[in-house]
Amino acid sequence: MKVHKPYVIFEEGDLSFIWLGLDESDREKGVLTNQYLIRQGNVGALLDAGGYFVFERVLNSIKEFVRLEDVELLLFSHQDPDVAGALNLWVDMLPNARIYVSELWERFLPHLGYDLGEKINDIPDQGMKIPFNGRYIEAIPAHFLHSPGNFHFYDPISKVYFSGDMGAAIFPKDKWYLIVEDFESHTKLMESFHRRYIPNKIAVDKWLKKIENLNIDIIAPQHGSIFIGDNVRKFLTWIKSFDKLGLDLIP
Ligand SMILES: [Fe+2]
Ligand SMILES: [Fe+2]
Repeated sequence: MKVHKPYVIFEEGDLSFIWLGLDESDREKGVLTNQYLIRQGNVGALLDAGGYFVFERVLNSIKEFVRLEDVELLLFSHQDPDVAGALNLWVDMLPNARIYVSELWERFLPHLGYDLGEKINDIPDQGMKIPFNGRYIEAIPAHFLHSPGNFHFYDPISKVYFSGDMGAAIFPKDKWYLIVEDFESHTKLMESFHRRYIPNKIAVDKWLKKIENLNIDIIAPQHGSIFIGDNVRKFLTWIKSFDKLGLDLIP
């Protein structure tokens, strides 16, 4: 079981999109998760910060790139424990972060142990442009993929698309890798997750329609491996090809 250091998946000028490392032994405590930091100049935006057991690793990784008080945004794709479970710790450690989450989940998050008050911002169903360092990160609706109030985050400058649970892969022990190389064999690690957690083809098709005009160079999912270049198109084609998902398959 290895510990992997953060890795910069995009860098141009003062903008970086950074994967925040991994401790493979965390698989004992639940499914492996990816966290990402968008850094521009001195400031940062943290995507799907994660649960309790990864908190220390993610915190230390962030500190390599920005000061904690300069993390301006804490963006959550949805409400799951692997996404937002350490929220109360993050609110203390990132004193200046504005939190964004679906308007469906804002009233549930206080159950994680913190009265968020003014810090929390609702993302409306149609999505929004979230101000960041004088420009925007786009919250793209991806409802029911898999949560009923669900967003992905697109950075129009780096063209990296954070896809939440879409593109998730579950690895056999000691078989983890960061970047997808052999797409065909990688589908074997994604198929069962998408078949069970994604409710139906309607949700997938609505989402694909929403992103069809986005210029995406990299898809960075919350679990599994990152799709770069041609593998972006291969992933989108693969997910569109399913005819039966979720509700079509449960007994
Ligand atoms: Fe989830
Ligand atoms: Fe997840």
